[in-house]
Amino acid sequence: MKKSESIKEKHEKLENHKILVIGSLNMDLAIELDHIPTVGETILSDGVGTAPGGKGANQACAVGRIAGGCSLIGAVGNDGYGKALQESLQNFRVDTRGLVTKPGDATGMAVVMVNKEGNNSIVVIPGANGALTPEDIEAHRELVKESKLLIMQLEIPLESVLYGAKLAKSLGKTVILDPAPAPEAFPEELYQYIDIIKPNETELSRLTGISAEGTGYVQGAQYLRQKGIKNVLVTLGEKGAYYDSQDEGKGFIPACPVDVVDTTAAGDAFTAAVAAKLSDGASLHEAARFASRVSSIVVTRKGAQSSIPSWEEVCAL
Ligand code: ATP
Ligand code: RIB
Repeated sequence: MKKSESIKEKHEKLENHKILVIGSLNMDLAIELDHIPTVGETILSDGVGTAPGGKGANQACAVGRIAGGCSLIGAVGNDGYGKALQESLQNFRVDTRGLVTKPGDATGMAVVMVNKEGNNSIVVIPGANGALTPEDIEAHRELVKESKLLIMQLEIPLESVLYGAKLAKSLGKTVILDPAPAPEAFPEELYQYIDIIKPNETELSRLTGISAEGTGYVQGAQYLRQKGIKNVLVTLGEKGAYYDSQDEGKGFIPACPVDVVDTTAAGDAFTAAVAAKLSDGASLHEAARFASRVSSIVVTRKGAQSSIPSWEEVCAL
């Protein structure tokens, strides 16, 4: 941030470069465990609670908190969880005009198991997220038009992701895809509409068939570049992140050393922070460095949306 620029001026500036998220909303059932149970094993939990989550909502809330505003297109059921998720979005300054209610479906849920090292395994029950259609996106075309940059993930139907990406590109927007969770078969047609893709190691391996272990992520990123994506950002957990970009070349961003409590939403915050910083005029590697600082704070706190820091907290780091 330029020294002469106040936080208020920064938020006003970023609000003029709107970011739209099309994605999922889940109520997370977070379960604290000594370790993730193996098949056939029964274990006791150290604590449990519900909290707002979902990759789409987490990313929208993170943009809202960091950049001062964001919009979301997504779907919830006509139930208490849906209302609670909407409220949470609004508390993070997310415009919810694009939130659709699906009366025949329950709001999405996720069972988030967190082990004592802070790492997680997640099971998502899509519910209303699975009913978000291309028609729902078309009905909110205005939100796409108003935005400068679109972020999507893969917890909504692939045909809706494809529709959203195609529409955004036809309107000249920048498209960021967080390919989580990575599908068995990634639609080839989608590659041409993506400006930036941000897989973690597991997703990169699933998408490319190349193991990300060791320095395998370098080859994996190259594979995605060869598919026509100009910018590939791979997050590598505690190791940091790697970028391979048409305009900025290749580089590595180390993670900040911290005491980890819970890594839930580290990847979501990373994607959101990259988008927020790019909207502020930063280069990809500057945006990734900023995102690494944001995520390093996220992993020191419990939960998904509850762990997102403000712009001021990141600058103070
Ligand atoms: P999750 O699914 O847990 O939300 P993810 O698998 O999508 O996360 P990761 O690659 O694990 O994403 O982490 C994203 C970023 O968060 C990393 O690039 C890094 O900057 C930061 N991060 C993750 N784990 C740690 C850690 N143990 N220490 C410091 N930073 C971390
Ligand atoms: O990335 C973390 C999120 O994944 C959780 O909030 C959960 O809802 C799943 O979508």
